[in-house]
Amino acid sequence: MIDVDVAVVGGGCIGLAVAAELADYFSSVALFDRDYTGSEATGAAGGMLAPIMELEFEEFELLELGRQSLHMFPQYCRRLEDETGMEVGLRQQGTFYVATHERQLQEVKRLYEYQQRLGLEVERLPVEILKKRQPALTDQLVGGLWIADEKHIDNRKFAAALYLLCRERGVEIHTNDPLVDLEYDSAARIKTLHSNFTSVQPDLVVLAAGAWTGLLPGLAEQDRLPVRPVKGQAVAVGLDSSFSPDSIVHSPDVYCVPHSPDRMILGATMEEKGFERRVRFGGLYDLLFSAAEILPALRDQPFLETWVGHRPASFDSLPFIGPSPSTKNLYFAAGHYRNGILHTPITAKLLKKMIVDSTTPELAEPFLPTPERLLI
Ligand code: GLY
Repeated sequence: MIDVDVAVVGGGCIGLAVAAELADYFSSVALFDRDYTGSEATGAAGGMLAPIMELEFEEFELLELGRQSLHMFPQYCRRLEDETGMEVGLRQQGTFYVATHERQLQEVKRLYEYQQRLGLEVERLPVEILKKRQPALTDQLVGGLWIADEKHIDNRKFAAALYLLCRERGVEIHTNDPLVDLEYDSAARIKTLHSNFTSVQPDLVVLAAGAWTGLLPGLAEQDRLPVRPVKGQAVAVGLDSSFSPDSIVHSPDVYCVPHSPDRMILGATMEEKGFERRVRFGGLYDLLFSAAEILPALRDQPFLETWVGHRPASFDSLPFIGPSPSTKNLYFAAGHYRNGILHTPITAKLLKKMIVDSTTPELAEPFLPTPERLLI
């Protein structure tokens, strides 16, 4: 049995960033991942840092969290790159949101009206200007928006750099080591955490296991976060030198995110199919069709790979960030749904404030794991 100050369960970008942050304040931090770090939702993501474009009608509480996190990204990545020597592919080239026919145009207009009501910095541009700014856009364009401030990142490089950052800061990383049990003591604290290969006695536990967070073995009923998997299929295509858009290009049906001058991610389906892992013909077909509708030159690009990921979704689409209402030494950082990469720096910062400074910033309030949100 090994004593540790902090045990983090989950090695996606959220778990890694929280572990790295806490390693600045605690002398022993251990992180457990049942697979390799960054293997699930983190590796499957598109890497969009787009709090405005990704905003759904009912999710306005996410806006401020996303914007503050977006604002942190340039400095966060600079520090990450300096400490690890790894480049993470942060690109600050904005987002186009475009329509090629009437149904999409209605959706673009509705979203724009909502964004205007919230006072967001979105421009509705004439087709000629959109085409001038992004010549790869189709000639069939009927309208679109431009959001200058949004960014994107290569999520896999980001996760790899966070892994290195954890190593640099002395986090003990246990990969391919699933949690098999969790024991509580009579004072409503987690006493021990057993993985396949080791057991630790932590002062503090942070659960950041994405869609698996509520399912961890040994978790008491009251700590079972209601997080469910929402399946997403995605595709990567190569880009040759004649076709290399540098902004996100989005329609109501697909997003296309250039990760580097020679790789673009097309995503992603939204499917309530539990942990089903197969790439299906229909999902792929829809993505490829919708992407070629807005960027026709994609038809000539090489196909690279396809995969499935599982977004961790809560009932209200908001993440859980903060202490368990029932267990004294337990914190959650899970349920980031469509925004895990975007919310990484702010989640690590908020948890640091709660754990190290014993303060709960106002920004965190909607995201606290209250008994109502845990349905207990
Ligand atoms: N944030 C993109 C997605 O969840 O598909």
